[in-house]
Amino acid sequence: MNATVPVLKSTAPNVPIHKTLTGQKALVTGANSGIGRGVAIALGQAGADVVVNYVEGDDAANAVVDELRGFGVQALAYKADVSSEEQVAAMFRQMIAQFGTIDILVNNAGLQRDSAFHAMTLAQWNTVLGINLTGQFLCAREAVREFVRRGVVPAVSCAAGKIICMSSVHQEIPWAGHANYATSKGGIKMLMESLAQEVAPQRIRVNAIAPGAIRTPINTSAWNTPEAYKQLMTLVPYGRIGEPVDIARAAVWLASDQSDYVVGTTLFVDGGMTLYPGFATGG
Ligand code: BGC
Repeated sequence: MNATVPVLKSTAPNVPIHKTLTGQKALVTGANSGIGRGVAIALGQAGADVVVNYVEGDDAANAVVDELRGFGVQALAYKADVSSEEQVAAMFRQMIAQFGTIDILVNNAGLQRDSAFHAMTLAQWNTVLGINLTGQFLCAREAVREFVRRGVVPAVSCAAGKIICMSSVHQEIPWAGHANYATSKGGIKMLMESLAQEVAPQRIRVNAIAPGAIRTPINTSAWNTPEAYKQLMTLVPYGRIGEPVDIARAAVWLASDQSDYVVGTTLFVDGGMTLYPGFATGG
């Protein structure tokens, strides 16, 4: 394969995002960069008002808010650590005070603290589990409380609320050197499925997206040199890296009534990474 590094140009097709979320109120965690930023912008393009949660990088968060306001929707940057119960509760109070309610939660905030297992510190373990997994629990709990309190508003959506959990191909694919991260993603799978089963009778839809290799700051070293990109492509049958907008379009669909009967599903958006690409020629 002739793998070049598409550094400047997006590899994703430029297809329109339709206004399927007009007037809905969305919260995206970790929305000032990477996948979260892409999702926040696409939700705004689809007509949703968006709270842009972030934990550091005020300028980047404010830039996302400005871009969203340019689409004619309401937007608000809110700094909070999703692993803090108090900060998450305060963020939801603020959102509800300002936007009235919440219809869509995108549980996206996540990070890596990679280490060989024998050298992994408890701090590395706890940071990753705290943000990637406990953070999703804390935000989902606040969202469910509001969805149940408010119930279905037919003029807004068929569902009382939608939660999208950002997982990873590593909820399935074991990852040496990243035991904390892969464990957090495996945990998200079961959190999402158990919660989906529990709240479906209240017409709350909980689903996940499992991105593969998406070009974001979290994995720069996997795509920023020709050698790294070529190596990465051995893992991606579709032959290109993913872009945040690839994930964002899936999130818009999962948040909209277009996907009303989709409950408790993980949508893999990975260019085929989970298809055991090594077996295309081996086995
Ligand atoms: C990780 C990336 C990695 C990708 C595919 C993601 O969940 O955050 O660092 O490139 O999985 O392995």
